[in-house]
Amino acid sequence: MRGARETAGVDAMSRSEADLLAVLVGAVPMAMLAVDANARIIHANPLAEALLGGACVGRPAASVLRHPAFLSALDRALAGDRPAPAPVLISPQGMELNLRVHAAPIALPGGMAALVALEDRSVLEHAESMRRDFVANVSHELRTPLTALVGFIETLRGPARDDAGVRDRFLSIMEREAGRMIRLVNDLLSLSRVEAGERQRPSELVDLSHLVRSVVQTLRPQALEAGVALGIEGDAGPILVPADADQLTQVVQNLVENAVKYGGGGERVRICLTRIAREPALRGPAVRLEVIDSGEGIDPIHLPRLTERFYRVDTHRSREKGGTGLGLAIVKHIVNRHRGRMRIESRKGKGSNFIILLPMVEGRPPKDTGRAP
Ligand SMILES: Nc1ncnc2c1ncn2[C@@H]1O[C@H](COP(=O)(O)OP(=O)(O)OP(=O)(O)O)[C@@H](O)[C@H]1O
Ligand SMILES: [Mg+2]
Repeated sequence: MRGARETAGVDAMSRSEADLLAVLVGAVPMAMLAVDANARIIHANPLAEALLGGACVGRPAASVLRHPAFLSALDRALAGDRPAPAPVLISPQGMELNLRVHAAPIALPGGMAALVALEDRSVLEHAESMRRDFVANVSHELRTPLTALVGFIETLRGPARDDAGVRDRFLSIMEREAGRMIRLVNDLLSLSRVEAGERQRPSELVDLSHLVRSVVQTLRPQALEAGVALGIEGDAGPILVPADADQLTQVVQNLVENAVKYGGGGERVRICLTRIAREPALRGPAVRLEVIDSGEGIDPIHLPRLTERFYRVDTHRSREKGGTGLGLAIVKHIVNRHRGRMRIESRKGKGSNFIILLPMVEGRPPKDTGRAP
């Protein structure tokens, strides 16, 4: 049963006014309610019902959201005021939501009513906190080598001024630290470039098989130095993928480099290429690229976060090896741009398998493809 004042309010509105209000509330792209003079809900859009946990129309506003800030904003709007937006924290289904309540009076023929918008700030707050973390991480990563450089410069100007041996040693450390900063800045630029172009799908046809061989060739000396053998296995012959050759090179390079750096204990890193006639995840022909090591493996608790910027299982070790912790974040964005998929399988003590699926073009390459750096 609806209250008398509310019924009067709705009844007093002409059909077209009532319809117009319903259409307006329904069309707003954020959770919105219309509440009558009796504080009963007369319209609620689907976003509001999803947020407030089900059908709201006909119920007292206080029964769908019992929150002092919400109720006070509603009271003031029904009294004809325009209250300032009020923050409201709610936890439907255990998930904390950060809302901002905007209430405004609306004069209806049957009396004063209110329009209430519930702005969900959670996504915005999350993005803001990620941005803060990112800036803090970048600053920290740059400050460490910079502090080292400043320290060495001071020592070279002072106590070690005339010691040629110390000077040479310090200069090579300074060179390494400066190199780390350059790598970090290059990786950051590369990440932002990939992110900026992520919506634009690459159209050039690249022979992945050729590209992989060429990257492996480049990394062989590094692997040899680490005592790791690199082996390419799987389908021979050209494998055509619509790709950005430079970006795919970065993907293969980072995965193989990681396998050598962190999974090198196994002494062998396998790079496997497999054609798949129809890959359900990509709804079409695909190629699976796997970089498999039999090193120390990764604890499952780290796997979901491995592609986050700056996330490292062992920060000290990664830094020692010159890593920036951005490699897999770049890989993930490149794979997304190529409309591919990435999966990481790993068992502690048994090694890791980094799997990339990419859409493949069937057929032989035209004359000028097979481009690889
Ligand atoms: N094959 C692997 N075996 C074990 N751990 C790995 C492997 N590949 C990556 N990791 C872990 O994942 C972390 C993130 O890798 P990522 O490539 O993003 O950064 P990085 O290698 O430390 O730095 P960069 O790639 O910028 O040189 C590494 O620091 C390492 O802890
Ligand atoms: Mg890496």
